[in-house]
Amino acid sequence: MIIPLAHRANQAQEYYFSIKLAEVRTLQAAGHDVINIGIGNPDMMPSDATLKALTQSAYQPGAHGYQSYKGIPALRQAIAGFYQRTYGVTLDPETELLPLIGSKEGITHLSLTFLNEGDEVLVPELGYPAYRAVSQMVGAKVLEYSLQEDNNWQPDWAQMAELVTERTRIIWLNYPHMPTGAPASKALFERAVRFAHDHRVLLCHDNPYSLILNKKAPISLLSVDGAKDVAVELNSMSKSHNMAGWRIGWLAAAKPYIDSVLTIKSNVDSGMFLALQTAAAAALANTDEWHAERNAVYEGRLEAAYAFLDALQCTYARDQEGMFLWAKLPEHIQSADALVDDLLYNKHVFIAPGFIFGPKGNRYIRVSLCMPKEHIWEAVSRLTANG
Ligand SMILES: Cc1ncc(COP(=O)(O)O)c(C=O)c1O
Repeated sequence: MIIPLAHRANQAQEYYFSIKLAEVRTLQAAGHDVINIGIGNPDMMPSDATLKALTQSAYQPGAHGYQSYKGIPALRQAIAGFYQRTYGVTLDPETELLPLIGSKEGITHLSLTFLNEGDEVLVPELGYPAYRAVSQMVGAKVLEYSLQEDNNWQPDWAQMAELVTERTRIIWLNYPHMPTGAPASKALFERAVRFAHDHRVLLCHDNPYSLILNKKAPISLLSVDGAKDVAVELNSMSKSHNMAGWRIGWLAAAKPYIDSVLTIKSNVDSGMFLALQTAAAAALANTDEWHAERNAVYEGRLEAAYAFLDALQCTYARDQEGMFLWAKLPEHIQSADALVDDLLYNKHVFIAPGFIFGPKGNRYIRVSLCMPKEHIWEAVSRLTANG
């Protein structure tokens, strides 16, 4: 006997990486040395201060009980300090911040908070898959807005205006953009905030890459005048602080938005382990030099990653931000799907196909910089070896 599933469970597809990484593990279990440059899983360590704070806190009596639903004050104060120093944005740690178990869960909480069945959500035609998947799970209708490749993957605001109806509730935005590596700019954020005001829609900005290989000072969308009325921002320690497995992110927004999301979230989980929060607060005090040293390591991997893409005869921009390179396939390669499987099973190199970020990505691939450069060079030599 099989108990029937909800419609959403039948419609939703398992996350691409959840399936593909199982294949990678099977190959590894069979003794193959698979070089994984598909996923953005930082290989470097959190700072020493972070790890010391984690262990010290874990030994405190009382550290192992339930914690507050809205995070400990020390973490919210550390996030507010980080926003002030990094982006020049002032946030009230008491009312304008909500720590999250990774920013990914924030996408679900925002969708549950703002979307009714049949409401419309605008997502970038290339973007993090969860915006689309979660909108669909809550019964919203997803419309894609185009990104103009010849204008460094910026939204086309005229087209966006045509897509908006009285049922549009959320626009998802993400700059520095994943997967294309297009940077953020103040002009873009000002345009987006104006648009959200004009059309009375909530702008959900997702900002996990602002500190990775950024060419200019990092920007928060909340630095734009009037942003807090119509915009919220998700941020994450996964990439910027090498803490992806810790699952720590946050929502920054005006009090009414935070309060509403907390109402939903407090029915879903019961706070975060104290030691994680204490250590995250310590990590947020990492110096500019600490971040610069990690960026120098990513920078040092670019040459190998470029050589990898050159060996595949891909074309790509050299000024991408974030921890990936987005590249277009040459005409003679039939499909990203076939290429990814060919590389995985014949060369034991895993890369991400562009279509997982939207159909527009069909003829693109994404490679990650989260591997020591020697491994990326090894992947290059596997490509260039005969056979
Ligand atoms: C654009 C984007 N948003 C959100 C996330 C989720 O990050 P977190 O680890 O904080 O859940 C990722 C992770 O890859 C991402 O690329």
